[in-house]
Amino acid sequence: MKSQLIGFLMNFWISFSPALYFHSGEREEKCIIEDVPSDTLVIGNYRVQQWDIREQNFLESAPGLGMFVTVTTPSAEVLLRKLYGPQATFSFTSYISGEHVICLQSNSTRLVAFGGSKLEREESFRKTSEQTNSNILWWAIVQTLILISIGLWQIKSLKDFFIAKKLV
Ligand SMILES: *[C@@H]1O[C@H](CO)[C@@H](O)[C@H](O)[C@H]1NC(C)=O
Repeated sequence: MKSQLIGFLMNFWISFSPALYFHSGEREEKCIIEDVPSDTLVIGNYRVQQWDIREQNFLESAPGLGMFVTVTTPSAEVLLRKLYGPQATFSFTSYISGEHVICLQSNSTRLVAFGGSKLEREESFRKTSEQTNSNILWWAIVQTLILISIGLWQIKSLKDFFIAKKLV
């Protein structure tokens, strides 16, 4: 009975998940701000798609790409900082209420590497890329899709609810 009720409440909360997508350049950090109550488990889901300059289309994924996920609390404390793959689920539990900042940044070094020792490779790459398109961030643009579920597990209010209803 109890677990059924929790299941129902979870479904209820999941249905409030906001979804969004944005474009991000290589190494560019993109952040979203979420107002989260305290003692709440926040689950985020994302998928990164790589822009293929030759195909002029988004690839299904971004193979070999890693994403740094950073979550900062309203008091500017880092709650989570971890490297994930191009598609991942991350989660954290808030301990204070307020605006949490969730940032995503790719770990790609393709452009960065071109500054130094890989000059030769850059030259040959440049020739092929000039043939196709003179976009500055050729094949470096990623499309990120984020889905965040909030209030999935409001521990405090659930506990109060069960105590009030004498279910525990
Ligand atoms: C980026 O992260 C991915 C996934 O963890 C990893 O496979 C890749 O080697 C990393 N790339 C760099 C340049 O660190």
